[in-house]
Amino acid sequence: MKFLVTGGAGFIGGNFIHYMVENYPKDQFVNLDLLTYAGNLETIQSLEEKKNYRFVRGDIADRQFIMNLFEEEQFDVVVNFAAESHVDRSVIDPSIFIKTNVLGTQVLLDAAKQYQVKRYHQVSTDEVYGDLPLDRTDLFFTEETPIHTSSPYSASKAGADLLVLSYYRTFQLPVTISRCSNNYGPYQFPEKLIPLMMIRALSDEKLPVYGNGLNVRDWLYVMDHCKAIDLILRKGRVGEIYNIGGHNERTNLEVVKTILKTLEKPESLIQYVTDRPGHDLRYAIDPKKIERELDWKPEVSFETGIQQTIQWYLSHRSWWEHIISGEYQTYVKQMYKERLS
Ligand code: NAD
Ligand code: DAU
Repeated sequence: MKFLVTGGAGFIGGNFIHYMVENYPKDQFVNLDLLTYAGNLETIQSLEEKKNYRFVRGDIADRQFIMNLFEEEQFDVVVNFAAESHVDRSVIDPSIFIKTNVLGTQVLLDAAKQYQVKRYHQVSTDEVYGDLPLDRTDLFFTEETPIHTSSPYSASKAGADLLVLSYYRTFQLPVTISRCSNNYGPYQFPEKLIPLMMIRALSDEKLPVYGNGLNVRDWLYVMDHCKAIDLILRKGRVGEIYNIGGHNERTNLEVVKTILKTLEKPESLIQYVTDRPGHDLRYAIDPKKIERELDWKPEVSFETGIQQTIQWYLSHRSWWEHIISGEYQTYVKQMYKERLS
């Protein structure tokens, strides 16, 4: 089987491609990534010597380029991770989110249809369901929960999901969609909560907690997400959506305090700052469908996973030090200067 994995120089795509290249030596993997600010060749450097792996730099929204690549490679399976993925950036500039997440997905779908791939898998997010109230802990997102987006990011991901489903219904393209909760683990870009707080705490910088810090996210260790996608590709039913989550709900404050405690840093580093506009209150996945149909279960608890993740960042300083020494500083100033002054 020949796989096209898009966005494989990013956080989840990078972990996924390491997992797949290692575990399926007889399959071929092409990693297509534009190397935006979020893509990092250091994440996938060790794969370069593998015989069943090739990296290609390119844009999923570039129709001619994508059609040529499909013609050349004749893929069996497409797994689309490539996206603009950060909610705060979508508040500042939604346009690139529409281009990459919606138009890019459409280009991939057209190519998958024209070249008759056996499976097109769309990596989506629980954010398409909007949020749940904080005081209704009995409520969870199921695959039937209506789409009800809050940010330009989640709206663009929902738009992409609807396109994917339309190509199934109208053209019988064999698609699947997964909607996962918040991931954490190695290689996550330090704009996201966990690596951002960890790296700032290490240099005793203030930790900008939005609002009152009581918003809830449902955390999943990244490799549990990767294994779930692998199962969906091999055993999932075409035309279906699968939610992925491990019932690891934590308030942002709990997460930040865990990081501080592990790093032996004081809670006085926490600074409550202006809230994210449209900030979703609570995410919580009901994973019964994937557990029942595909026998998937998360293997890593939050307690174990967060410690492993902190240790990974401590022992891979050069990976994130390269990132924070560049353009990243401009982003941090733009996002946090007023909030922290
Ligand atoms: P990321 O931002 O770390 O990585 C995205 C990757 O896509 C980068 O390598 C980037 O260079 C690449 N990319 C961006 N635009 C591209 C384009 N036009 N053409 C080709 N490549 C392009 O993102 P992530 O956190 O790894 O998320 C991956 C996917 O998983 C996204 O689709 C996201 O919506 C989804 N998701 C993320 C989470 C999470 O917690 N991070 C949870 C659920 C779903
Ligand atoms: O639920 C899945 C989604 O999880 C994915 O689709 C997104 O791609 C991914 O970025 C993530 O979205 P969130 O907005 O939940 O993640 P983020 O790490 O940006 O924020 C997590 C929580 O922490 C959120 O409630 C906002 C809060 N936060 C975040 C940052 C960056 C802060 O309080 N301060 C911060 O500086």
